[in-house]
Amino acid sequence: MYVPPRVLTNDDLAQRVETSHTWIVERTGIERRHIADRETSATMAIEAARAALQVADADPRDIDLILVATATPDYLMPSTACLVQDALGAIRAGAVDLNAGCSGFVYALAMANQAIASGEHRLVLVIGVEKLSCMVDWQDRSTCVLFGDGAGAVLLRAAEGRSGILASLLGADGSGADLLIIPAGGSAQPPSLETVEKRLHYLRMNGREVFRFATRVVPRAIEQVAEKAGLTVRDIDLVIAHQANLRILEAVAKRLGLPMERFVVNLQEYGNTSAASVPIALCEAVQNGRIQPGQHLVLVGFGAGLTWAAVALKWSEAPARLAVPRFHNLLRSILYRWAAWRTRLRQLLRRLAVEGIRRAERRGKPPS
Ligand code: UT7
Repeated sequence: MYVPPRVLTNDDLAQRVETSHTWIVERTGIERRHIADRETSATMAIEAARAALQVADADPRDIDLILVATATPDYLMPSTACLVQDALGAIRAGAVDLNAGCSGFVYALAMANQAIASGEHRLVLVIGVEKLSCMVDWQDRSTCVLFGDGAGAVLLRAAEGRSGILASLLGADGSGADLLIIPAGGSAQPPSLETVEKRLHYLRMNGREVFRFATRVVPRAIEQVAEKAGLTVRDIDLVIAHQANLRILEAVAKRLGLPMERFVVNLQEYGNTSAASVPIALCEAVQNGRIQPGQHLVLVGFGAGLTWAAVALKWSEAPARLAVPRFHNLLRSILYRWAAWRTRLRQLLRRLAVEGIRRAERRGKPPS
């Protein structure tokens, strides 16, 4: 995982908009959030991906597919996944972005699993990343207190046996598209002076409706994915849900009859990091020793679209705490440097080729 070092507390926010630490904590559970400074979604995704490659002790050249779940890509085009692919030197990988709002990472995880189960791919990198700080309206107290920036990544590898991802489900209800939306900047309302003046490039949310949707859909998704995996809700050792609001997590736990100890909660530190929240929570749970081999986990996301997604899995092994040989880390850092040089070289060669064509055209000769 990667989160920017810069921290914004509730008290900091209370100096910008009419709010208070007490209101934010009581209504959401959030105490602080990490806000990107010079980082972009791609740079945060690359940091998280490199950390995942190190933990798994994997070679970036072995990655078959890179899926980046984000609603805040660096550019509308090209995809953030391609920027990640380039920086990792993942020369054999396909790369694509996926936007399912805050459900994005769990959607991508389910799709990566299918890609592996089909036999088409063996090693898939799945990243959830978000830089929502540049999409929230810092004058709108009903949204700006909620969100934070960050990234989390996992590597999925083909393996035999009944562990790993057991079941998944994906859901959508586009009739709620307007409940959580960035109205302008796309083809419906391309950027114009008017869209900027009306602040239409910022995220807008009907918080109450999204809250009601989440408390209705998330318990059902958890029950359904557990059943698909041949489990009961009681068999679930840990639920890693999208970190939007502590009250949502408490309502879900109550509806399922599960104690809160079975839920990972870290939103007090990071706020709502959208597609990054589930992998960040997963990563912290692993680091804190909360996840042990043989345990059953459910990962569940919900958000813009409206969308929801759940994955049930059996944690098969502790990640390579077993020291990764230093030589491997050195090799990876050489590969990353080489990838950067390769890109510069290719860009230079392309510029020279274009220049050569122009010169030939100026001389009246057709380019060879
Ligand atoms: O990640 C995607 C999924 N997103 C979510 O799951 C978010 C779901 N929604 C929520 O978490 C909650 O609806 C919010 C935290 C966004 C809002 O909590 P709420 O309890 O639903 O508050 P509300 O919107 O009903 O507002 C209650 C009052 C309003 O004042 P009045 O109209 O009752 O006088 C708001 O103007 O709180 C006011 N308010 C604030 N007051 C102080 C709204 N934001 C703030 C604020 N500070 N930051």
